[in-house]
Amino acid sequence: MARIIAGVTTSHVPAIGAAIDLKKTEEPYWKRVFGGFTKSKEWMAQAKPDVVIGIYNDHASAFSVELIPTFALGCAAEFPPADEGWGPRPVPVVRGHPKLASHIAQSVILDEFDLTIVNKMEVDHGLTVPLNLMFGSPAEWPCPVIPLAVNVVMYPPPTGHRCFMLGRAIRKAVESYPEDLRVVIFGTGGLSHQISGPRAGLINSKWDKSFLDNLSKDPQKLVKIPHIDYMREAGAEGIEMVMWLVMRGALDDKVEEVYRYYTVPASNTAVGHIILENKPRGASRRPAARKRAAARKAKSAKTAKSPARRAAAHAKPTVIRGR
Ligand SMILES: [Fe+2]
Repeated sequence: MARIIAGVTTSHVPAIGAAIDLKKTEEPYWKRVFGGFTKSKEWMAQAKPDVVIGIYNDHASAFSVELIPTFALGCAAEFPPADEGWGPRPVPVVRGHPKLASHIAQSVILDEFDLTIVNKMEVDHGLTVPLNLMFGSPAEWPCPVIPLAVNVVMYPPPTGHRCFMLGRAIRKAVESYPEDLRVVIFGTGGLSHQISGPRAGLINSKWDKSFLDNLSKDPQKLVKIPHIDYMREAGAEGIEMVMWLVMRGALDDKVEEVYRYYTVPASNTAVGHIILENKPRGASRRPAARKRAAARKAKSAKTAKSPARRAAAHAKPTVIRGR
């Protein structure tokens, strides 16, 4: 059975991608931002997910204003980086997982969440920046990624509650997939920011930190927040934070917060990041534990079939009593 082992949230500020692409990560301004993700990359290297589900929003790269799906699930085998005006980012093509994605589509749609199925799509910084932050800059992304684009660019975006319940439906879908896959789900975007108008540059750290606290401990408080509160408190683009609730809905009610980082600003945005783990269960143990369990199982099977074991099983009762 597949299982979601953990959830990760990260901001997906485009300037972070530009800093990576232009090799500015060691400059003091950017070193502060990237320094917060050193432990995250170590965690990810240890977690070694088989698949990532990336919740993000498209910034008019794959979808123009002519077509705005509320929830769009990428079911293709690959997703090239989009040209966002400066040419495609020099990052690897995202490999999808069409089999699991199609299974999620079937399960979630029959569960009355009407996703848009996307069989061809380019992905922008909304997805590729979080991949960089969690995996670094490898020649190939280390595992398949299923993109799920949420509309937060044109009114009306989905409610926080709808996003949370979609997470629940995704979790149910993943857990009904027969292959033993360990899945990490990303919620991206935010935190507080506003990129235009009289309040451009708005950052509300108090709101952001409270959101992070509740995301970890009491997400039901967050699902009730109306759009207008996101706009007032976190700026026009702060509405991206509803995407984090898809991630949170896909996790257990009680989770272990294993890492958090918050810094301001990156470009004109607050950067928030959190890693939440579900309690480990049987087949979804971490790699080292799985290896030990497999070795024990193999040893036990070998012993059970060995001639000595068979002989012992048929030995006279006195032998057994003599022990
Ligand atoms: Fe964004």
